Amino acid sequence: MRWAELQEGRGIPPEILARAPADPWHHEVTFFTPPAEPLDTPSRRAAQALLPDGGTVLDVGCGGGAASFALAGRAGHLTGADQQQDMLDAFAAEARARGIPHRTVHGRWPGAAPAAGTADVVVCHHVLHNVVDLVPFLEALTAAAHRGVVVEMMAQHPMAWLDPLWVRFHDLRRPRPATVDDAVEVLREIGVDPVVQRWEREVPPRQDPAWVTRRLCLPEGAVPEVADALERLDRPRTAATLSWTAA
Ligand SMILES: C[S@@+](CC[C@H](N)C(=O)[O-])C[C@H]1O[C@@H](n2cnc3c(N)ncnc32)[C@H](O)[C@@H]1O
Repeated sequence: MRWAELQEGRGIPPEILARAPADPWHHEVTFFTPPAEPLDTPSRRAAQALLPDGGTVLDVGCGGGAASFALAGRAGHLTGADQQQDMLDAFAAEARARGIPHRTVHGRWPGAAPAAGTADVVVCHHVLHNVVDLVPFLEALTAAAHRGVVVEMMAQHPMAWLDPLWVRFHDLRRPRPATVDDAVEVLREIGVDPVVQRWEREVPPRQDPAWVTRRLCLPEGAVPEVADALERLDRPRTAATLSWTAA
């Protein structure tokens, strides 16, 4: 199955969405606070290898800026681009607190690409699984980079572990989730052969029952039942770093 079809299979049927008490797609800004000391990950090392001293970094779907702040020691300037203003506010506050030259660009990638401009290194962590139309998204990442691009993503769609709960609470069966291999296939179609490194994230991703309840479009009263069901589910930690040099 093609990337777009797999991603569309992750959609929420309109009748379920209509009953959702809160926006299930909203990313919580507090979940994306960058660590004070950057984690030494394959993604950080790949970006450091591409980045000249004092170079510029564009962080697409920056959230709180974990991907780009991990490069702060070497980078001379960081640009954070995100479709959520609250993420950009958090990014800018953190950059000010750390004394890092920066700017923010509000908008949805790739539409926001002209406003974001170019940088030595483009990083894009944990965004691809949000994207349906992947070709223009990836082409714009490559076009924005002077040196290269580093993408980090979970090995499979990060919400796929909740599929048993969609069956349980909504009787909704989904197709298989998109994987890193599906993303690599799209990259090869556009002439990019990335270096792929798979690894286990050390910090377990959040498994907050209230948040999962919102993702499942359920009312707050369902939190205890969701919490109970979560006890029997494991959230996968396998991530991948995809990197490539700009042509
Ligand atoms: C899962 S968070 C990851 C944040 C950060 N990169 C990190 O790794 O901690 C995804 C972020 O991408 C943003 N986002 C998703 N799709 C986007 C798009 N097409 N254009 C711009 N931002 C996007 C969301 O608003 C959110 O802040």
